Amino acid sequence: MNDNSNWLVHDHDRYDNALTECEIAADMGEWKNVTVLFNAFIEDLQLHMRLEDEVLYPFFVKEVGDSDGEISDLSEEHEEITRLLSDLLYIVKSNDFDHFLDSLEPLHEILNEHNEHEEAVFRCVENEDILSHRDEIMAQFNIDAKGQQTK
Ligand SMILES: [Fe+2]
Ligand SMILES: [Fe+2]
Repeated sequence: MNDNSNWLVHDHDRYDNALTECEIAADMGEWKNVTVLFNAFIEDLQLHMRLEDEVLYPFFVKEVGDSDGEISDLSEEHEEITRLLSDLLYIVKSNDFDHFLDSLEPLHEILNEHNEHEEAVFRCVENEDILSHRDEIMAQFNIDAKGQQTK
């Protein structure tokens, strides 16, 4: 399986890059830009995690099972990420930019670790079983190809 053809990996690379852009903007003190970039990042990532929690993970459990508890572990990681996101959202809303970069770093780390873990779990199954059915999975989730919610 070529990782570049894997939409999960593709999306994860996008979030990694989006956070790096936030870091660069914050480093340069472009706070207005940081707010815009970070809000867009959060919206995009929350949709991605919902898609995984509600469609991708249940699909995996149904097809493969979860005897090793990997899907439970991934779900717990989502909860941890969600906690960090809400902390950061609070920091951005209160214009507490001094703490923004300090708090962004742990989020970036845990997100990258989670993404690697997730990719490893889903690498164990045949690509065509789940990951090549992106359109079908998206349709179940009522999302169009651009990732916008249609309902
Ligand atoms: Fe995830
Ligand atoms: Fe993911």
